[in-house]
Amino acid sequence: MRLVLVGPPGAGKGTQAEFIAAHLAVPKISTGDIFRANVSQGTPLGVEAKRYMDAGKLVPDEVTINMVRDRLAEPDAAEGFLLDGFPRTTPQAAALDKLLADLGSGLDLVLELVVDDDEVIRRLSGRRTCRGCGKIWHVEFDAPSQEGICDRCGAQLFQRDDDKAETIAERLREYADKTAPLVDYYGAQGKLVGIDATGPVEDVTVRAIDALRSYGG
Ligand code: AP5
Repeated sequence: MRLVLVGPPGAGKGTQAEFIAAHLAVPKISTGDIFRANVSQGTPLGVEAKRYMDAGKLVPDEVTINMVRDRLAEPDAAEGFLLDGFPRTTPQAAALDKLLADLGSGLDLVLELVVDDDEVIRRLSGRRTCRGCGKIWHVEFDAPSQEGICDRCGAQLFQRDDDKAETIAERLREYADKTAPLVDYYGAQGKLVGIDATGPVEDVTVRAIDALRSYGG
């Protein structure tokens, strides 16, 4: 299955992507994770992306599209994938459609995680990420048994640089301005399914998997 997860910052895309990708047995491809890996390795792509990420802005389309094109050409993505955080603009969505059409395929479904801004702010301000395995935690909603330490691998947790209040506000503006139009874009293609992403993580996963099943996933 070729699937896209869309939703505002902090909607739970990364959290749900783990479960959904495992359910579908496809690779999870997160543009945010790829940018962050490049930032921590200090690559030229990372240096460029960091300027935008720290300001809560989107990385330019051309840079992002080229990066995704390379990633989708890897063998593990040949039979399906779950894209988390891409596309995020109409030009990115059009580029993805063209890329897949050239390969003789197309997207099966776009799953929209629906949550309001107050919930996003609560989620992002308490998010912690594991330095070792990348697992996402929350200080209140999904806390590890020992503060600051990952239960899964024992490594330290950290707070993302772009989870500061002023950066979160800018990310929400970017979402409303540049990403929300994708709801109409994919709605017009008949590929959009929205699910309520509030409530416990497990309940959201059940709603997501039910939605996928009704589309053959
Ligand atoms: P990216 O990493 O994609 O960030 P984002 O879209 O802003 O999304 P987040 O990762 O912040 O949130 P999420 O929806 O994954 O939520 P999570 O599961 O962590 O992108 C970062 C930056 O990279 C962008 O700002 C941009 O600069 C650049 N970039 C990336 N892709 C790009 C693109 N295509 N084009 C241009 N630039 C791009 O959950 C959040 C918290 O909530 C966690 O603590 C979690 O434990 C908790 N939580 C999750 N679900 C629940 C629940 N049901 N109840 C309670 N708590 C929950």
